[in-house]
Amino acid sequence: MTAIDHEKKLAALEAVKYVKQGMTVGLGTGSTANFMIKELGIQVANGLNIKGVPSSENTRKLALDLNIPLISLEKADSIDLTIDGTDEFDPYLQLIKGGGGALLHEKILAHNSDLVIIIADSHKQVDRLGSFKLPIETIPLATRKIMQLLDNMQLQPIMRKKEEQLFITDEGNHIIDLNIKHINNLPLLNYTLKQIPGIVETGLFLDMADIIIVGKGASTLTFKK
Ligand code: A5P
Repeated sequence: MTAIDHEKKLAALEAVKYVKQGMTVGLGTGSTANFMIKELGIQVANGLNIKGVPSSENTRKLALDLNIPLISLEKADSIDLTIDGTDEFDPYLQLIKGGGGALLHEKILAHNSDLVIIIADSHKQVDRLGSFKLPIETIPLATRKIMQLLDNMQLQPIMRKKEEQLFITDEGNHIIDLNIKHINNLPLLNYTLKQIPGIVETGLFLDMADIIIVGKGASTLTFKK
């Protein structure tokens, strides 16, 4: 295992300590979240009784393979806790997410969870968000028009591709990645983007994380709101 994977796993194991019998748990997406899901799989095999709410098709498949009982977001009455990864986090616990393209479901899950725990390796920690390109999810019909608008806004939009094909989300939408390095007012940017018809959601997770657990070397650091 690489040093980064080790940090991801340490953060995941620490986060799983918050999971208690009978909880409904939002399951994030990505390589860090996968460590958490695998640990939950072990604990379920040893008698832990939980229901998982998957944030993506990939996560749903992994959880099913591990025999973690699942319930859809639609059917879950409430979600006690969601554990998810991130692409960047800053000192104010603000996040850029969506590197894996699951930002829409992840954001709906986080918004509807009593507690949101973010797990990360130490490379995700930044002083200021924006080295990672901001993903946004768009309705295919509107994508070309939105690309022009975002270009005019100096956000250097790039349509995300996967193996030469356009990337398609679990909702059948597109992802556009934006350069937001020069933007100071992220709440205003988020608001402005959400006003554009056809932009379904952005990867800016502002004021959503309650706790961030970071693997750093051989230990973890915990940041709380
Ligand atoms: C998925 O859309 C993302 O939000 C992931 O949570 C994020 O990209 C972190 O992924 P890794 O844990 O693989 O770095």
